[in-house]
Amino acid sequence: MSVVDKINKDRLPNHIAIIMDGNGRWAKQRGTQRIFGHRNGVSSVRSAIEASAELGVKFLTLYAFSTENWNRPKIEIDALMGLLINTINTETETLLKNNISLKTIGDSDSLPKAVQKKLNEVIQKTSECNGLTVILALSYSSRWEITNAVKCIMNDFSKGKIKPENIDEDTFSKYLNTSGIPDPELMIRTSGEFRISNFLMWQLAYTELYFTPVLWPDFNKEELYKAIVDFQKRERRFGKISEQL
Ligand code: IPE
Ligand code: IPE
Ligand code: MG
Repeated sequence: MSVVDKINKDRLPNHIAIIMDGNGRWAKQRGTQRIFGHRNGVSSVRSAIEASAELGVKFLTLYAFSTENWNRPKIEIDALMGLLINTINTETETLLKNNISLKTIGDSDSLPKAVQKKLNEVIQKTSECNGLTVILALSYSSRWEITNAVKCIMNDFSKGKIKPENIDEDTFSKYLNTSGIPDPELMIRTSGEFRISNFLMWQLAYTELYFTPVLWPDFNKEELYKAIVDFQKRERRFGKISEQL
């Protein structure tokens, strides 16, 4: 029985989030430059998107560049931004053909203008697609997102649009970049690191976490299936006891 056959199609996670980590180590193992790892990571992105679309997962969030990643050497940042533009250029048609829409979360104003332009184009072009939604986290960090939400709430408060007594978890969620997107049920991190690295800290409150030693460029459909099978074995209690479920 192959791994995909072990997946219960009736209990698929609606939203999967992935911290795509390990490109640099993958390249280093091969005695090459880090950017070689990032380039090879693109095919893993394609596999994760394809597998999610084929299974019928509705949302796939990919952590592609964190706020903290701006502290990397400029040469690596420039290469990553270039790779992002190239990948959008080559993949837009495939997204459209497969009814996949693209969105971003993060501080898009801080991205280079050329990247912003490309992203806006593809977001606009795929806006009518209603199959899988791919959410790229770019210049994203949870603390930035939450701080930004507080600023927006304060701004609305000063205009008399919101009252403190009306702020609950749902209202607060609407001020996050992920407004309207359900919380992930499954979060995967590759490369054997056991941390969240400022990713979706509000949204992951009850998410099942899956860590694999596989480096991102080696991540393929089979690895995604394995994570889903593992997820489906878990009992999600949300504070209750087993007998209540
Ligand atoms: C993840 O791979 C990609 C980005 C953060 C952009 P890394 O570049 O972090 O790879 P490692 O962790 O150094 O191996
Ligand atoms: C997290 O990976 C960010 C992305 C995958 C985009 P990092 O490699 O930047 O995380 P840390 O710094 O090791 O925690
Ligand atoms: Mg890393």
